[in-house]
Amino acid sequence: MKDLSIDFCGIKFMNPFMLSSSPVSNCAEMIARAFDAGWGGVAYKTLGTQVEKIIHPSPRLNKYNNQACRMVGLQNVEQISDRPLGHNLKDIKWLKKHYPKHRVVASIMGFSNKEWEILGKAAEDAGADMIELNFSCPHMAIEGSGSKVGQAFDLVEMFTETVKKAVSIPVMAKMTPNITDMNEPAMYAKKGGADAISAINTLSAITEIGLDDLVPKPNVFGKGATSGYSGPCVKPVALRFMADMAQNPDLGLPISGIGGIETWIDALEFLLLGASTIQVTTGIIHYGYRIVEDMIEGLSDYMEEKGFSSVSEIVGRALPNVHHTDEFDLSRQGVAEYDLDRCIGCGQCYIICQDGGGQALSWDAENRRPVMDEDRCLSCMACSFICPVEDLIHYKEMPKGWVRHDPEPKED
Ligand SMILES: Cc1cc2nc3c(=O)[nH]c(=O)nc-3n(C[C@H](O)[C@H](O)[C@H](O)COP(=O)(O)O)c2cc1C
Repeated sequence: MKDLSIDFCGIKFMNPFMLSSSPVSNCAEMIARAFDAGWGGVAYKTLGTQVEKIIHPSPRLNKYNNQACRMVGLQNVEQISDRPLGHNLKDIKWLKKHYPKHRVVASIMGFSNKEWEILGKAAEDAGADMIELNFSCPHMAIEGSGSKVGQAFDLVEMFTETVKKAVSIPVMAKMTPNITDMNEPAMYAKKGGADAISAINTLSAITEIGLDDLVPKPNVFGKGATSGYSGPCVKPVALRFMADMAQNPDLGLPISGIGGIETWIDALEFLLLGASTIQVTTGIIHYGYRIVEDMIEGLSDYMEEKGFSSVSEIVGRALPNVHHTDEFDLSRQGVAEYDLDRCIGCGQCYIICQDGGGQALSWDAENRRPVMDEDRCLSCMACSFICPVEDLIHYKEMPKGWVRHDPEPKED
């Protein structure tokens, strides 16, 4: 097994894999089991002072299924920790005593400047290695908190500065994706002194409406709400924010990547786009802590195969390949190419090419095979996405100067 350790804000993580702040990191008993399973660190469930009593709505989650695919997304209305602050601090102390080499990041959320300061100090005194500032929960019941702060950039700067002044351990600001440009709040966090950025928290969403009671789910005794959405469905959005921030030379802060990570490949993609640590919630709610075994083994094998000697060598490797669309070489064009010997004659490619593509395919009913007119192909490659036979359809570049034929307009 490769050495997967990585330096993050001057702190050594034994591997980049962390639990993100949520029910998967709610107390020491759970986190100890996660550490035993292989996770290198935790962003502990967000601590509050409990001056404002936290009561979670019930039920608090809803699944988003895509036909037979279960839980491709998860919606939650959960608040920050409802446990007494003293219990959480004791648990952090216990974890640091019994797992000194694992990293404990205390996520905090204050409802006033003073509370941010108190929580920061308390977390440091309990032995936390780092602090994560929760500027990003989109459904906090307490007005003016969570992502409302993350969307008010001067507050991001002010609360970051408050906590930075109160503690000597590194401070990471957790961003909301419910904005257009994450570089803006991230730069305000940097101005406030943040040592790192974590992203993303959940997207504001509605996943499902009860067709009989007409109430959005989770149905909390007749009421639904727009609230936080996570899981594989949000990964593409998270990766986009990763790249945006990692490519910003003015930001230049380490990033902890979060959003829809379930496998070593997901984790690797975040690393390749600039994250140095990885955080997970929904993948664990779906499959349990054991998914870290696949992450450790997969990343290690990948490093071996590609000749990487440390995780930090991977961080940001794909960034030079992320361009603006105006930089594409439009003189190079191509078409879909079919290996018809392996075709099973299902006709799905023909249907979607007719109705959603370039009408490049006609149908040979006798032999049950698609017939390609390359001149009409859009190279959308949608046929290859729905073809049930793996690698039957490939992209083929056409000679320079080849131009797709536009369909003749209809005559009156
Ligand atoms: C039920 C639930 C509760 C969460 N609670 C918190 C929280 O207390 N603090 C926080 O910063 N993020 C919280 N999150 C957000 C996660 O830490 C994470 O940012 C988000 O779910 C995206 O990652 P994922 O797709 O791996 O779940 C919560 C997420 C879920 C699903």
